[in-house]
Amino acid sequence: MILISGSGSNMAAIVAASRQRRWRERHGAEVVAVISNRAEAAGLAWARSEGIATAALDHRAFPRREDFDAALTQAIDRFEPALVVLAGFMRILTPGFVAHYDGRLINIHPSLLPAFTGLHTHQRAIDAGCKVSGCTVHRVTAELDHGEILDQAVVPVLPGDTADTLAARVLTQEHAVYPRAIERLLTAL
Ligand code: GRF
Repeated sequence: MILISGSGSNMAAIVAASRQRRWRERHGAEVVAVISNRAEAAGLAWARSEGIATAALDHRAFPRREDFDAALTQAIDRFEPALVVLAGFMRILTPGFVAHYDGRLINIHPSLLPAFTGLHTHQRAIDAGCKVSGCTVHRVTAELDHGEILDQAVVPVLPGDTADTLAARVLTQEHAVYPRAIERLLTAL
């Protein structure tokens, strides 16, 4: 199960890897569905065009964060996923939700954790004068961007980099490291 909020390029990379690396035959695993908190997310349309089940759950329709997370849990549990993968899912999840998926909830963050938790990671890395940056796949815990690190990839920060040029370089690595980390988890399941 993959949760997205936007373009879904990480989700698409995971779907492509699952097919190229024959996860169904080798691990009995496949991407069963893609859910977004934004019905207009470009990634949803792509997943639908690939024949993958999709759902949209607008967080703005729920009075409290807990209410949205409860509805999201129902939508996810219909598919009984072994893994719940956050891929550009821009919602902070409640402790109850995180506890419900303990041990099978992972995220990708566009920095070399524990450095630069939260937002605007690329500009902050540039402003700090970092020579390298990257991305981190980690388990999700109640403390934002603090769970066990499962995999990382490093990229150089080049002279003249902007947040956008650095983000593009990091995203390319994200598309390689996320499927790699997921496949390692699948072999351990
Ligand atoms: C990625 O950079 C990811 O690390 C961050 O949000 C971005 C999502 O990109 N959390 P996409 O929607 O997968 O293209």
